[in-house]
Amino acid sequence: AEPGWTETTDVLVVGSGIAGLTAALHLREAGLHVTVVTKVNIDDGSTRWAQGGIAAVLDPLDTPEAHAFDTEIAGVGLCDPAAVRVLVEEGPARIRELMRMGAEFDRNADGSLMLTREGGHRADRIVHAGGDATGAEVQRALHEAVHRDPWIRLVEHALVLDLLRAADGRACGITLHVLGEGSEDGVGAILARAVVLATGGMGQIFASTTNPAVSTGDGVALALRAGAKVTDVEFVQFHPTSFMTAGVTSVQRPLISEALRGEGAHLVDETGKRFMVGQHELAELAPRDVVAKGIHRVLRATGADHVFLDARHLGKEFLEQRFPTIVASTRAAGVDPATELIPVAPAAHYASGGVRTDLHGRTSIPGLYACGEVACTGVHGANRLASNSLLEGLVFSRRIADDIVAELPPQADPVAPTGEPGWVVAPAIRGDLQRAMTRGAGVLRSADSLAATAKELARLGEQRGAPHNAAWEATNLLTVAATLVASAAERRETRGCHWREDYPNALDEWRGHLLNALDGGGTI
Ligand code: SIN
Repeated sequence: AEPGWTETTDVLVVGSGIAGLTAALHLREAGLHVTVVTKVNIDDGSTRWAQGGIAAVLDPLDTPEAHAFDTEIAGVGLCDPAAVRVLVEEGPARIRELMRMGAEFDRNADGSLMLTREGGHRADRIVHAGGDATGAEVQRALHEAVHRDPWIRLVEHALVLDLLRAADGRACGITLHVLGEGSEDGVGAILARAVVLATGGMGQIFASTTNPAVSTGDGVALALRAGAKVTDVEFVQFHPTSFMTAGVTSVQRPLISEALRGEGAHLVDETGKRFMVGQHELAELAPRDVVAKGIHRVLRATGADHVFLDARHLGKEFLEQRFPTIVASTRAAGVDPATELIPVAPAAHYASGGVRTDLHGRTSIPGLYACGEVACTGVHGANRLASNSLLEGLVFSRRIADDIVAELPPQADPVAPTGEPGWVVAPAIRGDLQRAMTRGAGVLRSADSLAATAKELARLGEQRGAPHNAAWEATNLLTVAATLVASAAERRETRGCHWREDYPNALDEWRGHLLNALDGGGTI
């Protein structure tokens, strides 16, 4: 689309969760003008839904090596050790910085930070806020800090469309659609000396996800169209315990935090048996791909659509005080966790892959950075360790800001937007796309199920629409879904959260990354 209006800034940040807002605040410390664009309102991304917390080595008896070990075990051979080292070593300082920015975490009676445990962690190293409302507190603090700074321009209701590049290929801005602004159809351009993608995940490609409605893979789709290196998109993590009750019908399912299992809740089948015991030494606290698979096996064997979480023995008072968000959402749907079993099932939760970056958050396109869920920094490998995602956003957004500040070129003039598809699909395909993805490319996959899904996506792709936000979003969903299906079909092994029924083992020959591209990709 031809931009009807243009504005300029020093650095453009796309996205307003923990990664985008911390990047913006750090860039401001260096005196740069920052524009943050966000698709709906500033607080509508995934960050505010995070429950469990942020993992970092804050206990004197814990070590960065131990945190790295747990991260790499969860990642099943695909983590980049250098990126993991950065994450675990810089994490504690970034959490302290976040506290200076205004976030308040839960504390023990002696004033020390209260630490908890989640799946895959062999130490208590997770800080939390408001019991199980960590993301809401982090988002509140960052939102307030951003609002206090008049040199951060916030553009809400702005869907990013495509990357603008200079004649030498450098990223120099984006095109976007802002509701109710500028030319008749609202498409404009923001030019910048560097662009930071922090657009979050893509959970909405599935029929049931813990992600909010805005998580439609916009950043990954933009990067694919621009030809940036994208890797590991086949590794979408399914959270083992989303709340599954007839009362909840939206695509976004309420999360039942792993921290509830960390505090002692058990997974049971309909006969009351703790089916994770004996499957892994950590039982219910095994890495979440192991737990999601354990649940899926029970669901397949029984034909049920949920198993249960038993938290009754934790007691009413403890549950209300430590897990107020979960207690409120389950009680609102008629389930009291103090006296009843909580029905749970896996739901799409986190994209471990994304736009490939180096240790400074640089993508393969000069001037384009990525951080948070949209990025693939290499810290998650084939399966992200619990509570490492907010941490990754904090650590790498700071590194990006440092890199931009150290070397910011002058504004370049854009040539035409790169890779625009020239067509969009009808928004009405969204439901069919989500159901097809869950059926054939969800927790369990096979060559046949993936081929059937690819065929259904191709059919949906023929249903063209007129260009406006819902159609661009649907096009992004289709773009990332098709890319995921192609790479899941190509990776003929089971590793981390990529589970192939027809190739049940991890194979050495697949211990590498697939390069995901619109024209097929390759390996790196
Ligand atoms: C949770 O609270 O279970 C989610 C934690 C995470 O996704 O890291």
